[in-house]
Amino acid sequence: MTHIDETRFAHRHLLDIARLSAADIDTLLNVAEGYVSKSRAGDKKHSLLRGRTQINLFFENSTRTRTSFELAGKRLGADVINMSVGSSSVKKGETLIDTAMTLNAMHPDVLVIRHSDSGAPHLLAQKVDCAVINAGDGSHEHPTQALLDALTIRNHKGKLAGLTVAICGDILHSRVARSNIALLNIMGARVRIVGPTTLIPSNAKTLGVEVYHSMKEGLKDADIVMMLRLQTERMQGAFVPSIREYFHYFGLDKEKLSVARDDVMIMHPGPMNRGVEIDSEIADDLNISLINEQVEMGVAVRMACLDLLSRGDQS
Ligand code: CP
Repeated sequence: MTHIDETRFAHRHLLDIARLSAADIDTLLNVAEGYVSKSRAGDKKHSLLRGRTQINLFFENSTRTRTSFELAGKRLGADVINMSVGSSSVKKGETLIDTAMTLNAMHPDVLVIRHSDSGAPHLLAQKVDCAVINAGDGSHEHPTQALLDALTIRNHKGKLAGLTVAICGDILHSRVARSNIALLNIMGARVRIVGPTTLIPSNAKTLGVEVYHSMKEGLKDADIVMMLRLQTERMQGAFVPSIREYFHYFGLDKEKLSVARDDVMIMHPGPMNRGVEIDSEIADDLNISLINEQVEMGVAVRMACLDLLSRGDQS
């Protein structure tokens, strides 16, 4: 009989969801779940990564992702160094590759990178000797966000397969949407995307989703509603007539949510723009809002990623 190691993770890097299997995702979520239990029981500090070096290289702003990667590394005992573009030699004209090669010469064990260019982590992974984790690249992917979202959903619904998940708002510019669509499809959920035509990618039909331009239709009988921020920093030109009109048609409020299932839960990756894509009454309703729990799951999921990549199981 073939022995299946349920903690085997045969990847050197974590660059996107698209190259993970359902078994990989289950493994990551199961390991993360273990860290959630330990952390909630007060057992926060571990020595698994003692003597290992983790460099967080953030070329774009971040509150949640950078802090939780730092916390995750420290909780596992790694030496964690944070670099941001403002304090790096990129400001003096150094290229991404030169920066990466410089850091590589210091023999880190893992590089966590966020960059505004899609594909930057993939390029880095070809050049350095250590594991690379994508902490968000342009409009491409944000794999650890999708994993933490999946863990949060699983905590509340007990499964991912068969659920109806409506992802709403600025899908076009969202790496969170792209990673979530990929993960939810792999795990057998039914994915809907909801937004104005201008914010839905032209290739949406090829992504394995149902497309809606009306919140009332897209949210009907949904188990999970995931709201997204308008990514104005990635927009060239006007994609919505006005914030007021956008909120009227696509902002989540109690009335629009009333068509979803009675046990619907709502999510938002943050940062949140209250009164633009979501009403405060919904965001702060702890009976239905999973927003704070998403942040908690973020630390555990990043611990699981660091843990599994450090095992060197890649074939
Ligand atoms: N969700 C997310 O990526 O948030 P930050 O930009 O604060 O990291």
